[in-house]
Amino acid sequence: MTIPAQPGLQGSLTVPGDKSISHRAIIFGSLATGPTTIHNFLDSADCNSTIAAFQAMGVPIRKAGQTVTVTGVGLLGLQAPKQPLDFGNSGTTTRLLTGLLSGQSFVSQISGDASLSKRPMGRVIDPLTTMGADIESRAGQLPLTIHGRPLHGFAYELPVASAQVKSALILAALTASGQTTIREKTPSRDHSERMLAAFSPASIDVADQQITIHPGQSLQGQNLTVPGDISSAAFWLVAAAIVPNSQITVHNVGLNPSRTGLLRVLERAGADMTLTNVSQAAEPAADITIRTSQLRPFAIEAAEIPSLVDEIPILALLAAAAPGRSTISGAEELRLKESDRLHAISTEFNKLGIELQEKADGLVIDGGRPFTQPTQPLNSYQDHRIAMTLRIASLVLAAPVTIQDFDCINISYPSFADDLAKVSRR
Ligand code: S3P
Repeated sequence: MTIPAQPGLQGSLTVPGDKSISHRAIIFGSLATGPTTIHNFLDSADCNSTIAAFQAMGVPIRKAGQTVTVTGVGLLGLQAPKQPLDFGNSGTTTRLLTGLLSGQSFVSQISGDASLSKRPMGRVIDPLTTMGADIESRAGQLPLTIHGRPLHGFAYELPVASAQVKSALILAALTASGQTTIREKTPSRDHSERMLAAFSPASIDVADQQITIHPGQSLQGQNLTVPGDISSAAFWLVAAAIVPNSQITVHNVGLNPSRTGLLRVLERAGADMTLTNVSQAAEPAADITIRTSQLRPFAIEAAEIPSLVDEIPILALLAAAAPGRSTISGAEELRLKESDRLHAISTEFNKLGIELQEKADGLVIDGGRPFTQPTQPLNSYQDHRIAMTLRIASLVLAAPVTIQDFDCINISYPSFADDLAKVSRR
């Protein structure tokens, strides 16, 4: 039997808007006075949880395709939600709104799906409590009851590099009495800082990994355009690097420097990559073209993790395709995401014949061997980034595989299958 030559992936696509920035645009738009228009909003389950939350608190929000108009109600204009707020799978909505709701003048209740209900909330509850918040939880997990009350500013050093915790504290600090200073040992994504500076320059100072929030300033509605999500682009960049005979251009990829660890790892792995049309807005972006090339193994260590934290599953696949031993360490945070991602990668890559060892804080991957057809369905663990990583793995295998609960991709990338069709040659 002759096996047909791998046709490779070819073409160009534009990934949907950035998830982190889309959440924040709704939040700051709701807290501003006057209208905010958001272009290229990510219309996905997680971001829609944030829209629904603010609508339930009396904020008029209209969505027409990827354009969203928010009529802000001001920093103290939110109304008590009539029902408990259900944030579905969205950790970002939960952590950021826990911060914001702590300083409001009403009681709110927050719940979520089975995955969200297992994730740690103590990391926001503890510092917020120091600010004077009154939050009831089930041993640091959802559901939460937040008894909104006046907060006071404080000085805090983040024990974990987490943009969600940092942003929760920034939002709480906006209505607190006195200023708040937040220090980061390892920088995490800074979309909240950039966006708050656009809505209210007098509210925030950032210098030397230290953020100072000056409360009591009003926020002014903005006209925002969300760049494409580098965490979604990652699937195509790695796919083009590892599926033989491929070349893909991804347009308008957000390149906030706190998110570009992926590109540095692709370079170290020997990817053939070119950036064009680089734009330097508040959130920079560029087109990225990548072609299949000879790959080499790489190491990712703790200091780099926050800049690529959501890309580890797909980077583990890059490692599986690169001949030699790659290591990922200092990544214990991955066990606390939508699934235990180190465990999910380890079990599902095993089914594909990939040689790897799961460590407490990472993975050791011996790459470059052919993948084998799994004898059982692949489990997405209902985690969107695991599901899409496994789908890209199936392209290397060039054989059909079954991925359970693939629908979970709607959390961050509902048009994933359409984009795959754009770069697949028939
Ligand atoms: C996010 C921050 C990251 C990331 C998540 C989105 C954000 O989480 O994993 O998908 O929008 O702030 P942590 O900051 O908790 O690591």
